Order: sequence, then C-alpha cells, then structure tokens
Amino acid sequence: MAEPVIGATLIELRNVSKRFGGTQALDNVSLEVRAGEIHAFVGENGAGKSTLGKVIAGIYAADQGEVLVDDVSVERWNPALAQRHGVAMIAQELALVPDLTVAQNVFLGAEEQRFGFERRNLSERLLALDAEVGFGLDPRAKVRELRIADQQKVEILRSLARDARVIVMDEPTSSLAAKEMAQLEALMRTLRDRGCCVVYVSHFLDSVLSVADRITVMRDGRRVSTVATSEVTKHELVTAMLGRELDGAYPERPPAPDRTAAPLLRVGNARTSTGVEGMSFEVRPGEIVGLLGLVGSGRTECLRAVFGVDELSGGEVVYRGVDWARKRPRDSIAAGLIFVSEDRHRDGLVLERSVRENIALASLGKRAAAGVISTRAEKSVALGFASALQMRPLDIELPVGWFSGGNQQKALLSKALAADPKVIILDEPTRGVDVGAKRTIYELIVRLAQEGIGVVLISSEHEEIMELAHRAYLVSEGRTFGEIVPEETTVEKVLFQLFNVTPNEEPAA
Ligand SMILES: Nc1ncnc2c1ncn2[C@@H]1O[C@H](COP(=O)(O)OP(=O)(O)OP(=O)(O)O)[C@@H](O)[C@H]1O
Ligand SMILES: [Mg+2]
Repeated sequence: MAEPVIGATLIELRNVSKRFGGTQALDNVSLEVRAGEIHAFVGENGAGKSTLGKVIAGIYAADQGEVLVDDVSVERWNPALAQRHGVAMIAQELALVPDLTVAQNVFLGAEEQRFGFERRNLSERLLALDAEVGFGLDPRAKVRELRIADQQKVEILRSLARDARVIVMDEPTSSLAAKEMAQLEALMRTLRDRGCCVVYVSHFLDSVLSVADRITVMRDGRRVSTVATSEVTKHELVTAMLGRELDGAYPERPPAPDRTAAPLLRVGNARTSTGVEGMSFEVRPGEIVGLLGLVGSGRTECLRAVFGVDELSGGEVVYRGVDWARKRPRDSIAAGLIFVSEDRHRDGLVLERSVRENIALASLGKRAAAGVISTRAEKSVALGFASALQMRPLDIELPVGWFSGGNQQKALLSKALAADPKVIILDEPTRGVDVGAKRTIYELIVRLAQEGIGVVLISSEHEEIMELAHRAYLVSEGRTFGEIVPEETTVEKVLFQLFNVTPNEEPAA
C-alpha cells in the first residue's frame, strides 16, 4: 500500500445502484472518498447511508456501477479485497463474537494472527493499541459482558488493528457518552491527519458539523449533494436531508399530571449485583419522568431489574400497589409494565421474523386471552403502529432485519405499544433515529402521557429529557441523588450537578 497523498481519491463509486426486493436502496450514486478527509454521510432513516458504506467496504456488491480503488476499476469488489486495500467498516449492527475476549475480537482475522505470531501477547498488543486512543478496555473481558458503548469501542480497535486507510464508521457514537464522543472525534481527526479517510455516518449533526471536512447528503437512495462543511449550515443540512423544513425539534410538553395521584410505579432504594447501589424514583399516571446520568451510571441496570430481567438484591418495587420485586419480564408484560431496551437486537427483536410477527409476539398473551387472535387483527394492529411511526418501507410483512437501523427502532417501539402499556420504560428510544423521525417519537411520548400512561425515559441526549420530562432524577454511580423539574432549570446547571459528584468524569470539551 502506497503512502497516501492528501486529497488523493482512495475509493470512487461510479453510478452505483443497489436494490433489495422492492426497495431501491441506492440509485445511481457517484461519490469519491479522499485521503486525509473525514467524510460524513447524513440522511433520513432508510436513505441508503449504511448501504453506501457497505458497498464501499465490499460487504454488498452493487447491482450496477463501478468501484474504483486508487483510480483503477476493480472487478468483484468484496470484503477480502477491501481488507487487502485497507478498507474497514464498523457496522451499525455490531458484528463481534460475544464469547471471545476483547483482545481476541480485536485481532481476530488480523494478518499476524493468521500466521500465528504473538498469540500469547494479544493482551499486551491490545493495551498498546488502546493506549493510542485511550478507551481503557480490559483485554480479557468477554465481549458478551460489555455495554454497547464498549462493544463499539472494540469494533473501532478492530479496524485500527487492520491498519485501515479507509474506515467507514456507521453511527459509531450512537451509544457513547459525551466524553467518549469527544474522544472518538479526536481519534477521527488523528486518523485523518495520518492520511486516512474516515467515512462518518451519523445522525448527530452537531458532531458532523464540527468534525467532518465534507458532507454527503443522501435521500431516498440518491446522493443529493456533497459539500464542504464550511459552506453549509445545520438548517440547510436538515432541509436537504428531509426535502422539507422541519417544524421545531420538540413538541410542547404535556400539562403536568396531578401530583397527588398515587404513583403507578414506585422504586425504593433498589440495589442489584449489576451496579445499582440505591435508586429511588416514582412515576404517576400521565407523567414523563427522566433519569439523567452518564452512560454507565446504572440507569439501564436499575430499569432492567424493575422489569424483571435481572434480579434485585435489595430495595422495593411497587407497581400499581403490588409488590413487584420478584416478578419476571413475562409478568411485567402481561401487567402492562413495558421495557423498551436500548439493545434492540439482544432484548428486542427477532430479525428473521416479520414486523407483524414481532409485534404480535408482544401482544400475544393479552389478545389470546380475549380470544381474538387472528392474522387479520394482527395485521391491522401492526400496520397502525408502523404507520403512526412512519416506518419505511411501510411493509409489515418484511423481516425486521431488512429494515434500516432507525426503522428497526420504530419496529421496537411499535412492539412495545402493541403490548398496551400502563407504564413504559424507554431506554434511548431515539438512538439511530433521524431528526424527522425523532420528532415523531417525541410526539408519541407526549401522546402516551396524555393518555395517562407513565413514561420513564432514559436518554444520553440530555436535551430530550429537559424538553419532554415533567420531572427528572439525577443518577450517578448507581444512585439517585437529586430530583429536578426540567422546566425550571437549564441543561448546563444539570450537567454541572451531574459532573460535580463524579470527580473522575470531566465534562467533554
Ligand atoms: N439487507 C437488506 N435487505 C433488504 N432491504 C435492505 C437491506 N439493507 C437495507 N435495506 C433497505 O434499503 C434501504 C436503505 O437502507 P440503509 O440501511 O442503507 O439506510 P440508512 O440510511 O443507513 O438508514 P438508518 O439511518 O436508519 O440507519 C432501506 O429501505 C432498507 O430497508
Ligand atoms: Mg444505517
């Protein structure tokens, strides 16, 4: 591999098209990515960003068009060829081997290991590589046991271990905390300065605008534009993505519920072996309650225990007046206590099954009891939710795995709604979702509250909680330590409170 010349075209696509069944995922796209640039792809859910990344990385073969590497057209571009030419992809849906360690995953299939070199030194090599980027991963930890954010870091190290010169990062920051996001942006800049091309697919437009050199906007499989970041505003980007103006990011917060009403769910001093050290909160009918904390502060762990996935080791959970401390997820679902996981694949969706079947699975118990199970009923229920959330394509018979990342998120939400929640726990509900669809999900949250449902919201985008929640609890190191009314404070004040009590965490620059 020659030393990269800054600005040289590394990979060029000419008139590339790609179809999946009835969907034209890419429609005659031409594009080049260059040495020494961070090139962002933005666009709505289903616009074709991941597909484009996968064509660059050889994972998908184009139906039509050409792939040129260093200005030479390459026949039958595939992952092995791509790897040989230094192209790597960090996929949106992570592809790690759960039962192997961090170090094993990072070096799996990398050149030296194939020849049996340095096998025993995997951990040391991992630490050396990690030191360059400062992730601080434990080389011997099993990937299965890592949080998504850490799994994402493993993927990033994997591509670094391969000395890639084109690295496609498909939503690499979607589950990272602010500080980690800043680290990743720094890493992207380092890679760029070394002459690599980083393709950065993201829905975080602020991050894109701060880090990218050029931005390609995709819409309905077409490349709408490619512009220098210095020449575009956020407003222009959003309009180009959506093909229309966005009417405000947030809907109006619903009126605060009756504060004297009995809580639907009350959690008192909950503890678990997974790092919850004393969390207390409650939610009333029609109330949106946020848990504000950093990634890893124990919010997810606590709610998993409330729902019954993990066990409580102490404290109490009372749901609609009933002791809920020993309940299983099955009990919770049947009683309308619904948890929408941040990990849509592990805890949420069966990828091979259709959207309709996935939705039916959630509501099965209830409607079986009512004796009205029929495919037709299933269909209309599923279609109702899917269209309310503007799933695209709006075809509920397609397997979930065929949908883009953001549309899978909508399927997961539809599934939760079909279970007829009384209390709904939403863990990062807008992860990977485009700006237009985010607004749809916010409207949904508001509507749920207006219908008297209790909503518990976790989001690493603190603004979401600040704009939607009636009340929020501050969480750090497995404990709730304060309560705020978002309407009466500012996100800056809250962040200060959050960071102030965790001396080892500093606010991101
Ligand atoms: N393996 C597949 N099988 C069938 N259809 C697919 C497949 N991959 C993508 N598609 C379809 O191609 C279109 C483009 O999907 P793609 O994943 O590229 O979108 P995206 O821009 O990455 O969206 P998101 O922001 O939601 O991740 C979508 O309509 C999707 O349903
Ligand atoms: Mg995608």
